[in-house]
Amino acid sequence: MNKYIKQYKWSNIFTMLHNQKLDPEVCRDTFNNHLVVITGSTSGIGYDAAKKYASLGADILSINRNEEKTKKLCEELKHKYGTECTYMIADFSKLDQVHNVAKKLASLERNIDVLIHNAGVYVTQKTITEDDLEQVFQTNYLSTFIINYYIKDKFIKQNSGRIIFVNSEGHRFAAWGLHLDDLKWEKHSYSGLKSYGSAKLAQLLSMIKFNEYFLGTKVTINAMHPGNVKTNSGENNGKFYKFYKKVIIDRNAISIENSSEALYYLGVSKKVENTSGKFFNLTTEEIPAPPSLDREEAERLWILSIQLGGLK
Ligand SMILES: NC(=O)c1ccc[n+]([C@@H]2O[C@H](COP(=O)([O-])OP(=O)(O)OC[C@H]3O[C@@H](n4cnc5c(N)ncnc54)[C@H](OP(=O)(O)O)[C@@H]3O)[C@@H](O)[C@H]2O)c1
Repeated sequence: MNKYIKQYKWSNIFTMLHNQKLDPEVCRDTFNNHLVVITGSTSGIGYDAAKKYASLGADILSINRNEEKTKKLCEELKHKYGTECTYMIADFSKLDQVHNVAKKLASLERNIDVLIHNAGVYVTQKTITEDDLEQVFQTNYLSTFIINYYIKDKFIKQNSGRIIFVNSEGHRFAAWGLHLDDLKWEKHSYSGLKSYGSAKLAQLLSMIKFNEYFLGTKVTINAMHPGNVKTNSGENNGKFYKFYKKVIIDRNAISIENSSEALYYLGVSKKVENTSGKFFNLTTEEIPAPPSLDREEAERLWILSIQLGGLK
């Protein structure tokens, strides 16, 4: 029996379907001399968001796993927009590399104005990493937790800054909630949708706790669904998934500019400067699925993430 069943409301599902059709709000303010950190900016939504922020004057600190692609991105941003672009390299499926960048971010002398947790994967075959964790949970969730955990006090000290999770309506696929006792999918059957949904759900649960941590400060933390966008996401999977993606998913995709427009609005617009702990479908605030509002589960996940992430 699904313990959240009574909390599900059809009206929320209809609202979500309605919101999918809305264009994002637009923010026309410039962002000169502000620092924006974006993970996974070598392709897709992160790449487009980096260009959007740079085109409006922001300096970019790009965090990716591929150095060659990252250098190319920075050259492009400097050349086209004349803004500063620096980078750090980390594979988010490797704990030691994530600790490394998280420490460097925490000791940055400059304020971080916006941090966009964007890097993510969709994997149809269960994969266990060198750290003995399931790949999607580690890459899409635990790495974002570790980075936030290291830098939360930098944000408090700054008393400013916005953290944005590029989350997903896909969190709704984890309709039964997380299997905290089976994060490696040994007792439950694995699927791409389930692992992806669970990692995005975990991110939303962590947002509850980080939001509490930032209460009373000017730091905000929010999550957004970037729309269904045609990107490289899922291209690492087998032929069957790639065919399904091409024929079904990509045919219904929206323009990637909508995602970056929304990320810019959430990071810069004064209209959301005091909004924190919320889930947005592009720029429309929305009620996420019931498991993502479970405070007790958020507490359990927090403790587990500290252990799994090797944090003190
Ligand atoms: N596309 C959609 O319709 C959609 C919908 C909802 C949510 N999202 C979310 O949007 C975010 C961006 O996805 P996308 O659609 O733009 O996909 P994408 O084109 O595949 O971009 C993903 C980015 O994450 C990076 N990345 C992947 N694995 C990594 C790892 N282990 N370590 C460090 N970086 C890694 C990729 O680096 P490489 O360039 O090296 O591969 C790339 O820069 C993800 O969080 C995804 O879940 C996307």
